Amino acid sequence: MHGYFKKLDVTFPEIDMSRIVGGSLVEGFPDFRTWNIRDLNYLNNLLSSILKFKITPATITYNEIAGGGTSPHSEHVLIQTVLNFYIEPGKCSTLFWKLKNPSIESELLPRLDDTGNWSESVVKVYTIDSLVCEASFIANPNEAYILGVDKIHSVSKPITTDVRKFIRLGWVGYNVEEIFNSIEIL
Ligand SMILES: [Fe+2]
Repeated sequence: MHGYFKKLDVTFPEIDMSRIVGGSLVEGFPDFRTWNIRDLNYLNNLLSSILKFKITPATITYNEIAGGGTSPHSEHVLIQTVLNFYIEPGKCSTLFWKLKNPSIESELLPRLDDTGNWSESVVKVYTIDSLVCEASFIANPNEAYILGVDKIHSVSKPITTDVRKFIRLGWVGYNVEEIFNSIEIL
């Protein structure tokens, strides 16, 4: 067990995207945007028909990745573990990395906040040549994966004109194994 990700054996039911898309912007990163869910009650009802959460998620958002994907980064300070429901995964690979040398310095990503301004974030980015790939997966439409986003990860997007669309639940203070074990599939 590598601890980077686990596939959750559940298929997302038919979803009315007009009730998901259209919420206010939470934040953005280069080629990555996060919004509030337009109708959170609708989504909560849908989720509670398939899953029981013994640990309540701290955040529930709608996300899109455009362009070539995301370069290797870690989100350790914000949230440690997420459950991604891939609505349109866009044939992307999600890769997890280890630093060749743990003392290598990282840079901080620029972040677009909800007032429309860019500033420095707490998200660390790394160059590929300082890393070794440890694990990866390719999600199919409507599949769900639990990911440790405190680990260094990247999204490789082969078709730059596609948009990767997913719903994300986030937890603070729990690892992949703890969240996996806390979710009951109904
Ligand atoms: Fe990430």
